[in-house]
This record gives sequence, C-alpha cells and structure tokens, in this order.
Amino acid sequence: GKGGYPFYMEKEIMEQPQVIAETILPRIKDGKPDFSEEGIPDQILKDCKRICVIACGTAMHAGLVGKSLIQAMIGIHVDVVMASEFMYNDPVVNKDTLVIAISQSGETIDTLEALKFARKCGSPSISVVNVKGASIARASEYVIYTNAGPEIAVASTKAYTTQLAVLYLITARMAMARGLWEEERLLSFMNELQRVPQVMAKVLDTKEEIHRLAGVILNAQDVFMIGRGLDYSILLEGSLKLKEVSYIHSEAYASGELKHGTIALITEDTPVVAVVTQDKLKSKEISNIREVQSRGARVVLLIKENETLDEGEQWSCVYRLPKMDDPFMVMPASIVLQLIAYFVSLDKGLDVDKPRNLAKVVTVE
Ligand code: F6R
Repeated sequence: GKGGYPFYMEKEIMEQPQVIAETILPRIKDGKPDFSEEGIPDQILKDCKRICVIACGTAMHAGLVGKSLIQAMIGIHVDVVMASEFMYNDPVVNKDTLVIAISQSGETIDTLEALKFARKCGSPSISVVNVKGASIARASEYVIYTNAGPEIAVASTKAYTTQLAVLYLITARMAMARGLWEEERLLSFMNELQRVPQVMAKVLDTKEEIHRLAGVILNAQDVFMIGRGLDYSILLEGSLKLKEVSYIHSEAYASGELKHGTIALITEDTPVVAVVTQDKLKSKEISNIREVQSRGARVVLLIKENETLDEGEQWSCVYRLPKMDDPFMVMPASIVLQLIAYFVSLDKGLDVDKPRNLAKVVTVE
C-alpha cells in the first residue's frame, strides 16, 4: 500500500533515506567502495579512456550528475547520451569506452538497443538497474542494482537518487582502481556518502516548509529553474518532475545561457527556482539571480545553510539546505525539488501517481 500517504510518489520520496542506505551499505567494505559481489573487475574501471552513459529521462539526468563527478574527480571524458538519439549520431564507441546504461525498469527499449550496439562495438558495459533480472541487466556485462524497491508512481524519485548513489560509488571505486586518491580522501568521500541518508531525513522533516514554497509556483503558467554545473543538472530533473506531475510548463536553464536567449520570457508572472550549492559557482549564480529579480521574477532560492546573503528583504523565499561537501549537495537539493513538484500536483488536485499520457515503462521506440 501507500504507507498511509495519499500517493505513492510521497511514500517513495519519504523512503529515500532508507533505500539509499540499502543501495550503498552492501557495497562498502572497510569504509571503501566494493563491487566484488557484482564481480566488476578494477581493470575495466582503470583501462577505459572515456565513458558513455546511455539512458532516458530521469535516468539520463542522473547520468549528467555522474558526468560532473567523474570528469572532476577522475579526469576522463564522459558523454551522456539520450538513448533515443544514440543511433542517429553515428555513435563512436569502442573497446576503450566504458558504457554505463542507467534504467529503473531495465526495459526501456531505446536504452537496451543502444547498449547492444555498443557491446557489438566492443565496449565493456555496466548497467545500473532497479528491477532484478530486467532485459538491460541481462544485456550488459556487469550490473549494479539500485535497491530502491518497487517504484510505483510514474514519476521517478527514489530510483533517481539511488542511481546517483551508485554513481558516487563508481566514481570512488574508479579513483581507487586508478590510484588517484590518498586513503584519507577516499575515506572522507565514503563517509560523506554514508551521511546522505541522515541528511535527506533532515530535509524530509521540513516537508511543510517545502509545501509552502510550492505555493509560489502553484498558479504559475511557466516556471524557470536556473543554476550552473551540478545545480543545473539537478534542475533539469526538478523541472521534468514538475512538468510531469503538475502540467506546468517549466524550463531548466543554465544560468549563464539565459541572456543568450530566453531572459525576455521572465516577468513578474514567472517564478524562478534557483539552486546555489557549489562554492565555486556561487557569485556567478547570485548575479544571474539578480538579473531575473530585476525583471520582477519571484525567486525560490535553495542555498546551503550558513551561506550569507545580503539584502535580506529581497530573499523572501529561501530554503536552507543542510550542508554537505559540495559534490554531495545534489542529494538534499533533489529532495526539495521532488517535494515541490509533488505538492504543486497535490494542491492542484491532480492524480499525482498517474500523470496523463505517461507510462511507467516505455517499450516502444
Ligand atoms: C520520469 C521518468 C522517465 C524515465 C524514463 C526512463 O519521471 O520516470 O523519464 O526515467 O522513461 O525509464 P527507465 O529508467 O525505466 O529506463
């Protein structure tokens, strides 16, 4: 059942601390990432010259976070390809390309076909799948299961964050396999990963505060979501979530790109959700927020606790995220974005779990 919640989506959002723990803990031995159960040899993490992530929708958005992590920490190039487009751009993959296919259902036909093609080209492959024994799991050389449990709401939530959790583990194991990090750095990264469930729980405790933030968006026609880097990646997902369950038009925009295009669309009637979680991006992001504020937009700002913000007055809708090391801030921030989408849908009286025209598993191209 729905565990006492009105919709599965809420239940599944609330389950995240637990399922993240169930996804990471079995893969940590002596404080270090471990894929011996999965039989993944370090060699394939060590030898690849680039990575190609293949996925659709939410799973592809998880891949974008993985790209940032791996490029920053491992220093190899990562492509994230929409599986439905993969074949139409004459994909260049070979034995030096590690393919990571990400899929909750494990049955998405586009992802499956792209994975099979890459394997024919000689690429080693790992799939990140939630449903045990699914086609994509069987079609890949190695599989890492997300232990999210059954995801029933059509809009994906806990599958996404468990996919992220696996990508942190892969990043750390890759660093280990390549001898890139001192022991201390590895252990501290893994400690921070293990802190994710408790930090998520803290955010979930503030559900009613997030419900009030959702009120800013409830009657909007259009919403923009702006950020840079990792903040932009999670906003792509937050924006998809809002569109899917509330039917409000929403666009995630890389903050720096706004003035190359759509800033003219931002008016008093366009709420803007801004996420600022990365120290190195903060000042640029804040100045982009000023630009939309000067066009009258009401801004819902997600920022780390303890960050100082001047001009208190202007910041009427600020949500303070519990602090983690910057690469992990996507975890608490994602929960807030999921809950915003959920509450908008709920307050509109929509069928949150079954948005019109969407199917949970997409087995046609
Ligand atoms: C969004 C959503 C879809 C799926 C996409 C891929 O909430 O659920 O975007 O993420 O259809 O599905 P899987 O992960 O099953 O391959």
